[in-house]
Amino acid sequence: MILVTGGAGFIGANFVLDWLRGAQEAVLNVDKLTYAGNLRTLESLQGDSRHVFARVDICDAAALDALFATHRPRAVVHFAAESHVDRSIHGPADFVQTNVVGTFALLEAARRYWASLERGEREAFRFLHVSTDEVFGSLGPTDPQFSETTPYAPNSPYSATKAGSDHLVRAYFHTYGLPTLTTNCSNNYGPYQFPEKLIPLMIANALAGKALPVYGDGRNVRDWLYVTDHCSAIREVLARGEPGQTYNIGGWNEKANIEVVHTLCDLLDVARPLAQGSYRDQIAFVKDRPGHDRRYAIDASKLERELGWKPAETFETGMAKTVRWYLEHQAWVNEVASGEYRKWVETNYTKRM
Ligand code: NAD
Ligand code: DAU
Repeated sequence: MILVTGGAGFIGANFVLDWLRGAQEAVLNVDKLTYAGNLRTLESLQGDSRHVFARVDICDAAALDALFATHRPRAVVHFAAESHVDRSIHGPADFVQTNVVGTFALLEAARRYWASLERGEREAFRFLHVSTDEVFGSLGPTDPQFSETTPYAPNSPYSATKAGSDHLVRAYFHTYGLPTLTTNCSNNYGPYQFPEKLIPLMIANALAGKALPVYGDGRNVRDWLYVTDHCSAIREVLARGEPGQTYNIGGWNEKANIEVVHTLCDLLDVARPLAQGSYRDQIAFVKDRPGHDRRYAIDASKLERELGWKPAETFETGMAKTVRWYLEHQAWVNEVASGEYRKWVETNYTKRM
């Protein structure tokens, strides 16, 4: 069994669904179910004994110890985090708590459990920490992409807390020998993303006839990766990565935000034409995000060279799939927008899904 934290969130849920499509090995899914956790996403796993769900806060050391002792996982894949930069600007406390204190509590519980294992199991154990390219800060237009040796320079409370967690993970390898792996990935997009993030927000607003709020001049650059490509990279690193190492994950898809929004509008113009005009007419340039990093770009060549990973989707195929998915899953989006998904969790939640 593997223990996945944050498996009811966007990337974690995609990871769990992908994992259970391709493997018989069970998943213990540990998630507090914050606003970003949505068990509706995992509804297809109800009754599947390979998926065990535990509503637990990663800051709760006693609950973590009990989970490790009962389920005896061979690995941890740690997704749980507060993940949205804008929220971190308005309320950084939850970010410090979950991303730093929570990762610390999880590392401590993993270390206690790992120390209790027999030698062979101890050597095979892995703690994979899922992190972000935002820890490297902001690039200028002609700077080389972030590599694994780029110095850390986080600029938002979110990225600062992720950087703190990365450093703790590093320290647990060097100090205690815990077999850790860290991945730093670029911007993900695809099914089941909470509609506070750029791509699902723009699709939802476009379809609702609302403004498409582009921060600043729309020229900030992000490097986009389709979510299942992130999941396949994590599986590779978990299987064959070298403990103590970090791996950058990215799609070689640098795009200015305005290009991304134009692409979405153009896809929607074809798939769901308006009576007149284009979805582009809804674009509104708004006040910039404070401390807005100008450019992120990932050099993923270490992962490709050492582990043979390659993304399956291009930006064009991934965006087309994404738009199609949101059009076909309006019920999922509407439940999130209305808050109905929270009620579903309360009435349908069982310890074992
Ligand atoms: P998300 O916000 O969609 O999901 C986070 C999940 O963690 C939710 O299910 C939430 O309930 C859970 N969670 C939050 N606090 C918790 C706590 N204290 N205890 C237990 N569970 C808790 O996030 P995401 O976009 O899926 O990101 C997952 C991970 O990947 C994060 O660590 C993030 O930093 C990292 N990451 C995200 C991206 C991206 O583009 N979204 C890119 C690179 C790295
Ligand atoms: O780079 C990886 C990171 O990508 C992850 O670590 C974070 O968890 C994830 O949220 C994401 O962070 P960003 O801040 O890049 O994502 P977001 O979707 O919030 O914004 C993407 C870009 O679009 C960014 O430059 C800000 C801009 N933006 C965002 C929103 C929500 C807008 O212009 N308008 C908006 O309404």
